[in-house]
Amino acid sequence: MYKRQEITAAQLDAQRAYCDMIRAAIAPRPHFAMVETYGCQQNESDSEILRGWLMDCGYSLTDDASRADMIAINTCAVREHAEKRVFGNVGALVHNRAKNPDLIVAVGGCMTQQETVKERIRESFRMVDLVFGPHEVWQFPELLWRTMERRGRRGNRSRLIAASPSDGVVAEGLPRQRDSGVKAWLSIMNGCDNFCTYCIVPHVRGRERSRRPADVLAEAAALAAAGYRDITLLGQNVNSYGKGLDDGVDFPDLLRAVNAIDGDFVIRFMTSHPKDATEKLFRAMAESEKCARHLHLPAQSGSDRILKLMNRHYDRKKYLEAVALARRYMPDLVLTTDIIVGFPGETEADFAETLSLVEEVRYDAMFTFIYSPRTGTPAAAMPDPVSRAEKQVWFDRLLGTANAISAEKHAAYVGKTVRVLIDGETNDPARNLSARTKGGRLVHLAGDPSLVGTFADAKITASSTWALFGETARQ
Ligand code: SAH
Ligand code: SF4
Ligand code: F3S
Repeated sequence: MYKRQEITAAQLDAQRAYCDMIRAAIAPRPHFAMVETYGCQQNESDSEILRGWLMDCGYSLTDDASRADMIAINTCAVREHAEKRVFGNVGALVHNRAKNPDLIVAVGGCMTQQETVKERIRESFRMVDLVFGPHEVWQFPELLWRTMERRGRRGNRSRLIAASPSDGVVAEGLPRQRDSGVKAWLSIMNGCDNFCTYCIVPHVRGRERSRRPADVLAEAAALAAAGYRDITLLGQNVNSYGKGLDDGVDFPDLLRAVNAIDGDFVIRFMTSHPKDATEKLFRAMAESEKCARHLHLPAQSGSDRILKLMNRHYDRKKYLEAVALARRYMPDLVLTTDIIVGFPGETEADFAETLSLVEEVRYDAMFTFIYSPRTGTPAAAMPDPVSRAEKQVWFDRLLGTANAISAEKHAAYVGKTVRVLIDGETNDPARNLSARTKGGRLVHLAGDPSLVGTFADAKITASSTWALFGETARQ
């Protein structure tokens, strides 16, 4: 059963002691570790913590599996496709193990919270030494040490299969190795209480729990002071931030408080559930000058009947009202969404409602998915008579419409000069820099790599479905 469990300083010290033991054990020669991440930004954020721990344990990080002494795979369970890829890639590690018998393979993340997955690893993936869940990232050094101990005992190849169901963990003060010095994920909460009928996330990530506002704000201030220019507040449903805490701070309050932190940075957030996207939120966004003019508001479907079956707690009318209100506060708002095609029982008429919603809202960008049944969710037990081939036809139609709208919206930027944050480099020598507008639109530019981490005015000269292309305007 869910119980909030705040990790204490003493518990963290114990983990640091495991780091010291691992560091001493691997000291005789340099050791390399690789962390591979699937899934959403929550997993990216957890992988940063895993990398932080691994560095504290004395490993150097690598992206080269053939060189690694330790490989951690952080998995996603949201759709079957993601799971298949993970099993394929874990299976392939048999060759790495053959070359390096000392290799340690750890599988973590959302997939491991499913009994069926644990069973499959136990039976068929002998090369996996450690299985751990998202609630155990805070105690990774201990799990790694216990795995190494088992391996150390001569002839004993027994594995450690953890991934416990306890789900109330809130841990502060964990080490974290961020990829970029410009963009940072800032997790403000974990878990989800919404139980959309198609979705595995509440089953694997546990109940919703928020970090304390003081902890979030301290981390945001530290990021701003360290020069981060783009901070994304993360949660499965950020709009319900603060529920269960006695601080009386909700998400719009938190947004304003982060906005009040000194520094030149953009605040983004993901994801907003339409049922809790209120006028208070839109006002806070509009009045927070650092807040991106971007709202990711997953609609999932345009059909009231399907929305009800999905347990989404809003209907088409309420969704459209939220969009209209948001646009009233922020006329320049960039709006993106997620849509599922082929939910069990969806008909051609339901699909037509989705298509018409998309045409009515005209999203700047969309993430579209064909429904994937997830064991243990209510939708997986609903009758699903439409064939995969027919769903694919619907999906392609939706994608065609979505892409045409995105391309039109992007074309409207051509000739304009927009403020962007240059946030990284690309592989394209002609346009070597990547940047984002305040609304989150991707811009490719040519310029000196030293510009990464700075704001610039970009003149947009061309566009595509996915991106804008431009040149840095004279400052
Ligand atoms: N918490 C976020 C998103 C979580 S998963 C939210 O509520 O918006 C990201 C997206 O994956 C979802 O928005 C949904 O569109 C899609 N998704 C989730 N479960 C799915 C399933 N079983 N099949 C297909 N798509 C799914
Ligand atoms: Fe899944 Fe719904 Fe929670 Fe999003 S809000 S994570 S779609 S259950
Ligand atoms: Fe996947 Fe887990 Fe995120 S299931 S989408 S990695 S919360």
